Amino acid sequence: MKSMGVGAASPFKDQLHSLTKKLLPWTIYAIFPLAIFRLYFYPLQLPPSSTDQLPSTSSTIITSSASPTHISSSKEQERTEDTPCDYTIGKWVHDKSGPLYNGTTCGAIKDGQNCISHGRPDLDYLHWRWKPKECGLPRFEPNTFLQLISNKHIAFVGDSMARNQLESLLCMLATASVPNLVYHSEENKFRRWNFPSHNANLSVYWSPFLVKGIEKSHQGANYNKLYLDRVDERWASELNHIDMIVFSIGHWFLHPAVYFEGDSVLGCHYCPGLNHTEIGFYDVLRKSLRTTLKTITERRGSKSNGNGIDVIVTTFSPSHFEGDWDQAGACPKKKPYSEGEKQLEGMDAEMRKIAVEEVEATKENAKHFAGFRVEALDVTKLSLMRADGHPGPYMHPFPFANGVAERVQNDCVHWCLPGPVDTWNEILLQVLKKWEGPSKRGE
Ligand SMILES: *[C@@H]1O[C@H](CO)[C@@H](O)[C@H](O)[C@H]1NC(C)=O
Ligand SMILES: *[C@@H]1O[C@H](CO)[C@@H](O)[C@H](O)[C@H]1NC(C)=O
Ligand SMILES: *[C@@H]1O[C@H](CO)[C@@H](O)[C@H](O)[C@H]1NC(C)=O
Repeated sequence: MKSMGVGAASPFKDQLHSLTKKLLPWTIYAIFPLAIFRLYFYPLQLPPSSTDQLPSTSSTIITSSASPTHISSSKEQERTEDTPCDYTIGKWVHDKSGPLYNGTTCGAIKDGQNCISHGRPDLDYLHWRWKPKECGLPRFEPNTFLQLISNKHIAFVGDSMARNQLESLLCMLATASVPNLVYHSEENKFRRWNFPSHNANLSVYWSPFLVKGIEKSHQGANYNKLYLDRVDERWASELNHIDMIVFSIGHWFLHPAVYFEGDSVLGCHYCPGLNHTEIGFYDVLRKSLRTTLKTITERRGSKSNGNGIDVIVTTFSPSHFEGDWDQAGACPKKKPYSEGEKQLEGMDAEMRKIAVEEVEATKENAKHFAGFRVEALDVTKLSLMRADGHPGPYMHPFPFANGVAERVQNDCVHWCLPGPVDTWNEILLQVLKKWEGPSKRGE
């Protein structure tokens, strides 16, 4: 398994030496995703073609009233009637009550994130609650959430972080009402659940760039190809059947890639041997989000072509490697960072900022569109403080059953479920409640 990853990484290894200084924050990502991500998504299989089958949905579209709010952008801290709580500033406090669900009660947790059933011995990470400075963040209320999404279709679109968040939500909702899996594609990259109790559908769409992309493969190129001016129709063609869409992307932008715009090559990231200009990935992420949000505004931004759509962009989710990803103790923390102990900086800060800025710009442009609401779910900082929340070696079951091996794979990117991602969905619920009506403000 390991050789598969290392083999894939070798083409740009040499370049790493010279670029290490400049690209230090990138290098660990550049190596890690290649080696590991494939294992998550396609365990022991060849990568699939990028033309994975589309799920066919047929759904009812329900009107949702439009009233833009500003919730998660980090603004000046004056709290008035019109300035709802800023959930980004706060601290993790110990909480006895623990999660709503566990790996036994929820069947929807991806193996690699089911830390409890994989034998993670320390369980203190389950007992923390996010306390925003300006307000309280209520514990997740599955029944309230289900009521708010009654007769709607909520789609999570993006990479494995989108899936991580979707599975957390699914597990929490399942404590109140049992969902049925009504569709899944061959490799579970596209799935849909139905909650018969509320005629609500939750789905997940694999689309790690949101724009059209061709993922690297064993047979084809060993870099991704991104077409920055075109959305990925695997999700976008379904827009007319979606009432709320949650985007979550980021880590796949660190992979080697060649970028196209129109018919020409814009540049690349880590593409030695190809005669293209290195342009990094920040502007590329920005263009992808811009193309995505613009397309939604065009296709669904007016009442005349549907009944409106709500868009959430989950901001970048930081990883926490403290050493080699394949050595024991790659993310060894057992407690969250305390307030002020860890600053949001470097790539994490930049990736977050790009998403927040693109959301704010879209709000500005979409003012005239009655049926379009968009908000950033700004989880970067609160997640950055949860170095204790990753599976680490418990991405595999009982990794130390036969003693500590010389090499052990660690996942310090995704989050254990239950875990910190549950908090993302607690905040998401508050966003939905505020959208629902001004009377619910300030809770
Ligand atoms: C949910 O999906 C089912 C098909 O599984 C469909 O019949 C129904 O109309 C959908 N409902 C909504 C609200 O999208
Ligand atoms: C999981 O939750 C169920 C139901 O609340 C409980 O009976 C069980 O003890 C829990 N298991 C763990 C490992 O916490
Ligand atoms: C690389 O591109 C430049 C500019 O497009 C061109 O002048 C040069 O010949 C190319 N080199 C190779 C090896 O293709």
